[in-house]
Amino acid sequence: MSPPALSDHRLAVAPMMERTDRHCRYFLRLLAPHAWLYTEMITARALLHGARERLLAFHPAEHPIAVQLGGGAPAELASAAQLATSAGYDEINLNVGCPSGRVQAGCFGAALMANPALVAECVQAMRDASGLPVTVKTRLGIDDLDSYSHLCEFVAAVAAAGCRTVFVHARKAWLSGLSPKENRDIPPLDYKRVHRLKQDFPELEIVINGGLSAVDTATAQLEHVDGVMLGRAVYRDPYLFAALDAQLFGGVLPSRAAVLEAMLRYAASEVAKGTPLRAITRHLMGLYAGLPGARGWRRTLGELDDGVGGLRQLEQTVVERLVA
Ligand SMILES: Cc1cc2nc3c(=O)[nH]c(=O)nc-3n(C[C@H](O)[C@H](O)[C@H](O)COP(=O)(O)O)c2cc1C
Repeated sequence: MSPPALSDHRLAVAPMMERTDRHCRYFLRLLAPHAWLYTEMITARALLHGARERLLAFHPAEHPIAVQLGGGAPAELASAAQLATSAGYDEINLNVGCPSGRVQAGCFGAALMANPALVAECVQAMRDASGLPVTVKTRLGIDDLDSYSHLCEFVAAVAAAGCRTVFVHARKAWLSGLSPKENRDIPPLDYKRVHRLKQDFPELEIVINGGLSAVDTATAQLEHVDGVMLGRAVYRDPYLFAALDAQLFGGVLPSRAAVLEAMLRYAASEVAKGTPLRAITRHLMGLYAGLPGARGWRRTLGELDDGVGGLRQLEQTVVERLVA
C-alpha cells in the first residue's frame, strides 16, 4: 500500500509538552505508520537563541512529521521556520491554542485568536521563509471572543494567508481563571461547531481534536471532518493509535511484541549514545493499558535501572512476555 499523500491528515497525534518528544514519536510511528506526528511546542525564541539541534532532532522514521512553533512575531517565526525546514520537517504548525500564563505573557498561543490579522501575517511569513505547508492549531474561541462568526473570521484570515489545514480543539479557552490543565477539561466540547466549520470552509482540511478516546467515536468524526487528532487518550493507551491507523488506512495491526522488540533495538542505540533509558521507557507505560498485567508492566518499567543495566533487565522482561 502506498503511503497517504502528505496533505492527508486523517490521523494525527496532538502536540503535547513533555510527552511527544522524539522518543515518544518514534514509538508512535511504530504503532501507526500513516499518522502525522507533532512535536511538543517549541517557541520560536528558544529555537533562535537556544539549543536548536537538540530541539529539532528527530529520527528519519518519523516522517511525516510536523514541528509545532509557538510565537507571535512574524519575523521570528519566519527565522524559526527556516531552521525547521533545514532540519527536514514536512510541515510547520503554529500554536494558537495554548492558554498558559507564560505563553500569554509572550503574546502567543491562544491569545493570538484575538488578532486574526497578525496570525495571518505569521502564517504568510513562515510560508514565504520555508516553502513548507503551514498549518494552524486553534480553539473555538477565547474568553468572550467565542462566537462562531469570530471563529470564521479567524479561519478565513489564516486561509487567505495560505493555510490549508486547520486543527480545532473543540472547546474555547479561558485565558484567566483556569489552569492549562483545567482548560483541557472544563470548557465544554462542541464538536458540532467544528462540523459546521467544515461545511462553511469545504476547501480547507479541518481536523477535529479534543476528548476523542475510542476507535468508533474517532472514526465517526470522519463523516463530518477530514481528520482526527488525539492527545491524552493515545498517550494513556498507545495501542489505540495502532488500532486507529489500521482502521483508517487498512493496514495490518502490529503486535505489541513486535513494537517492543523494535523499541528495544532503538533503546539500545540511544543508550549507547548517552540517552537515559528512562527518557524512552517512560513513554511505554501505557502499552498494555486495559490488559491483564498492565500494572506489573508499569511497575517493571518504573523499577528499571538507568543505562545498560536497565536495558538488560528490559530485554529479559520482554523475552519473558514473548514466551508467556
Ligand atoms: C501534557 C499536555 C501537553 C500539551 N502540550 C501542548 C502543546 O505543546 N501544544 C499544543 O498545541 N497543545 C498542547 N496540548 C493540548 C493537546 O494538543 C490537545 O489539544 C488537548 O489535549 C485536547 O486533545 P485530547 O483530548 O485528545 O488530549 C497539551 C496537552 C497535554 C495533555
